[in-house]
Amino acid sequence: MLAAVITAFGGPDVFALAEIPAPDGEVIDVTLAGVNFADVQRRRGEHERPPLPAVLGADVVGRRRADGRRVAAVLRGGGYAQVAPAHHVVEVPDEVSDEQALAVLEQGLTAWHCLHTLGRVDADDVVVVTAGAGGVGHLAVQLARAAGARVIAIASTPAKRALAAELGAHATVDSQHPDLGAALSETPTLVLDGVGGRTFEQLHAALAPFGRTVAYGGAGAVRDTVAVGDLMTASTGVLGFRLQRVLDDEELYRSSAARLFHLAGRGVLTARIGGRHPLSAVGRAHADLENRVTSGKLVIDVRRLI
Ligand SMILES: NC(=O)c1ccc[n+]([C@@H]2O[C@H](COP(=O)([O-])OP(=O)(O)OC[C@H]3O[C@@H](n4cnc5c(N)ncnc54)[C@H](OP(=O)(O)O)[C@@H]3O)[C@@H](O)[C@H]2O)c1
Repeated sequence: MLAAVITAFGGPDVFALAEIPAPDGEVIDVTLAGVNFADVQRRRGEHERPPLPAVLGADVVGRRRADGRRVAAVLRGGGYAQVAPAHHVVEVPDEVSDEQALAVLEQGLTAWHCLHTLGRVDADDVVVVTAGAGGVGHLAVQLARAAGARVIAIASTPAKRALAAELGAHATVDSQHPDLGAALSETPTLVLDGVGGRTFEQLHAALAPFGRTVAYGGAGAVRDTVAVGDLMTASTGVLGFRLQRVLDDEELYRSSAARLFHLAGRGVLTARIGGRHPLSAVGRAHADLENRVTSGKLVIDVRRLI
């Protein structure tokens, strides 16, 4: 089978198309694979260094070879390939397209569990969503709005802020603003942070008493430390999220994936496809993602080679 393989950690040019053996066991004939920021971090060797040579890529949609059913899956690698292992497989309902299924699975589950399971969002909340036009962020904006909350999206360009507003954000803020807390039009009660560093610090400090930050990523690549004494003084909380904890709980994974597919099928949640590339151009998708020029979900059409 063909796959986009890396033989070294580094820049977006480390990918090369190669014929490699298909995985053992149950497999999916992949139609589309997703590109996530975590793949960029793995490619750089920043987190969870897989053994080399490696096929990166976590979310796929396609047909389970054993029964021909249309399925989506969240993998621990192996996604940028024409055949992928059938791990954490969920069936996709007819009313949900391949693109939507792919986009709302990994990133949608992240947005949902940060907002609801940890954030306990309700209609009284003022929710700040960082990278509000990004893969997770643009879904979080829609889910927070659907929960009845006021929503403030942070994003780096006018086009990204316009997208977040179109998707339901009541207000937007430029992520390059030197004082993000002061730039907010309302005092937040819940911050969803996938950026970290200065973004995390400024937004967490802006929370109302009894507010909480759900930290789920570090696209800004800065490790954060939190002083418990400061949390007590401000009476705020910090919660962390890792999707693996959902994948570890088969019932939670299946029920929350089914909920996201239901929302996508009804049009309550609509993923934007921010770029569609052939398998040979995985590197270009990575470069776009790390250069912050993308919005929504990036997909790889693994059946197209050029
Ligand atoms: N915890 C989990 O299990 C889990 C699961 C999925 C994703 N994540 C995390 O969620 C975050 C978002 O993932 P995603 O795949 O949806 O990506 P994404 O939001 O589509 O892309 C990352 C965005 O982060 C912002 N950003 C801020 N500083 C950046 C920097 N130094 N370099 C690049 N981007 C920067 C950019 O938005 P602006 O240009 O608008 O600032 C960029 O578009 C990532 O940190 C990812 O690791 C975590």
